[in-house]
Amino acid sequence: MPLAALVASSFALYFIWFLVRCYFVRSPLDNIPGPPSASIISGNMLQIFNHNSWKYVDDLIENYGPLARCQGFFGTRMLHVFDPKAMHSVYVKDQDNYYRGEKIRRQVPPTLALLLGPGLLATYGSTHKKQRKMLNPVFSGAHMRDMTPLFYDVAERLRTALESQVEYGPKDLDVLSWMGRTALELLGRGGLGYSFDPLVAESKDVLADTVKGFVPTVGDVVWTQEITPYLSYLGPAWFRRFLLDLVPIPKVQRLKTIVDVMSERLKKIYLAKKAALESGDEALLHALGEGKDVMSVLSSAVRENMTASAEDKLPDDQLLAQMATFLLAGVDTTSNSLARVLHLLSMNPDVQAKLRQELREAQDQYGKEIPYDELFALPYLDAICRETLRLYAPISLNSRLANADTVLPLSQPVRCTDGTVITEVPIQKGTYVILNLRACNINKALWGEDAREWKPERWLAPVPKAVEDARIPGIYSNLTTFLSGGHACIGFKFSQLEMKVVLATLVSRFQFSLSPDKPIFWNFAGITYPVTDHASSKPEMTLHVNLAPC
Ligand code: HEM
Ligand SMILES: *[C@@H]1O[C@H](CO)[C@@H](O)[C@H](O)[C@H]1NC(C)=O
Ligand SMILES: *[C@@H]1O[C@H](CO)[C@@H](O)[C@H](O)[C@H]1NC(C)=O
Repeated sequence: MPLAALVASSFALYFIWFLVRCYFVRSPLDNIPGPPSASIISGNMLQIFNHNSWKYVDDLIENYGPLARCQGFFGTRMLHVFDPKAMHSVYVKDQDNYYRGEKIRRQVPPTLALLLGPGLLATYGSTHKKQRKMLNPVFSGAHMRDMTPLFYDVAERLRTALESQVEYGPKDLDVLSWMGRTALELLGRGGLGYSFDPLVAESKDVLADTVKGFVPTVGDVVWTQEITPYLSYLGPAWFRRFLLDLVPIPKVQRLKTIVDVMSERLKKIYLAKKAALESGDEALLHALGEGKDVMSVLSSAVRENMTASAEDKLPDDQLLAQMATFLLAGVDTTSNSLARVLHLLSMNPDVQAKLRQELREAQDQYGKEIPYDELFALPYLDAICRETLRLYAPISLNSRLANADTVLPLSQPVRCTDGTVITEVPIQKGTYVILNLRACNINKALWGEDAREWKPERWLAPVPKAVEDARIPGIYSNLTTFLSGGHACIGFKFSQLEMKVVLATLVSRFQFSLSPDKPIFWNFAGITYPVTDHASSKPEMTLHVNLAPC
């Protein structure tokens, strides 16, 4: 018992010290202007992270500019940032000083590691670098070119399925559901070497809904991020699992089911592939993914490279975690981006018609399946993709946690509440930084007065001088949408190919317009998604679909 008492009292002391530090000790960040705290428990967190926080975040952008101080849970301070120089420091120049934004300590697994295992989204330092080194070639442009026929095969199935839906006249369809199934199938075939969904009318794989439910569900239980870092103290995995089964919160149980369904299925796929590889059964391998998908290339590279030192190989659990990571990072992002483009094309029929014309001319010249290089050279299709990913970055807020005392440089001086002017911010270890990717992409100081308008034409001219000079940390198009640096999106070319192949196939054949009965709202979340009612967290987007006139 004395031991238990000791443990309990040290916990209590730690908690008191934590509260004192948060509520009574002044932080150097207090001098930076920011919105008043809305609650002593949750600060500004619930204002920033809710389904409909667009207005609040826009006010934050307009009223406080590229650097603001916000309140986190329990009086902690954080920074809201969209200054390009500061973002460049966090993602590129000083990236080793920041963790992906979760309250992690080095030895404690963060939420994503608990949910997904040690894949790219959950590893750090040398393990992460090693994984990237192995995976980068399979996500390169050259490899994407090889995969183009496979992508068209999936897109053609989608076209056939939609044709059968509208053959007797136009129809309202849940286009998001079709985009979700297509993105899952493309990731399955191109990423995992597995077909989830033949994309014929109503034979949907349960996994499509499961994957689609992940991000909204994580968003609904965002507070659990405050707890997960401490879970590993609770003992071994089977015991934590036992505790988890007892948690009487439906949304937590829902998340558990989602993760279970995914990991069961992935394990099956992985074991089947591994068996095929080990037996050297080429026929079976090709049946699973024509041998060109990311996982096949990766596993055969590992196998062929037997001379490689043991530590250069990706162990089984990492390969499996990689598959779960692709599934979660690669499906929802792309399906919601595609849905967004179709929504915008429905609101802008003239843009849609102009795109259709460009696509049909190219198809007349090169055939129905416009080859990779010619597809990427289509200027209007490219402009529409860039403009949509600029104005509507699917991941609009991103975060990082300082893991060392460091300094955040600013491109423009900021006047503090005490009148002093600063050009850099001292950052204490443990400070949480919210990076507003969308705000950087729609910054009027960089993109001009029309920065908040959707204008594909802007990409047919050179980018503004201010953008060129700002050194925006973005691997794609001077946009922060896919980040930059060591943790930048590895799948950005994969996703470009998906979007272009699907849009080329659909827009040349169908006409999309708004449905008079079903409104479309976009919910803020880890990945922005459409709903028909703001209060709902059921992802759906209905459009009126018709065959396009010849
Ligand atoms: C429009 C589509 C997409 C967008 C906007 C997007 C955006 C992002 C962003 C912002 C990150 C950085 C997250 C962070 O570090 O906090 C990221 C990472 C990642 N993305 Fe994407 N992504 C997209 C599509 C894809 C696709 C199709 C795949 C896979 C095939 C993919 C795989 C990944 C992976 C594995 C990471 C982790 C990289 C690392 O940490 O090394 N993404 N993505
Ligand atoms: C193959 O082995 C070399 C030399 O050890 C190593 O640098 C490389 O990363 C390995 N590649 C794969 C895919 O295992
Ligand atoms: C940013 O814009 C400049 C100027 O147009 C261009 O040369 C550069 O390639 C762009 N960066 C990216 C990552 O596309």
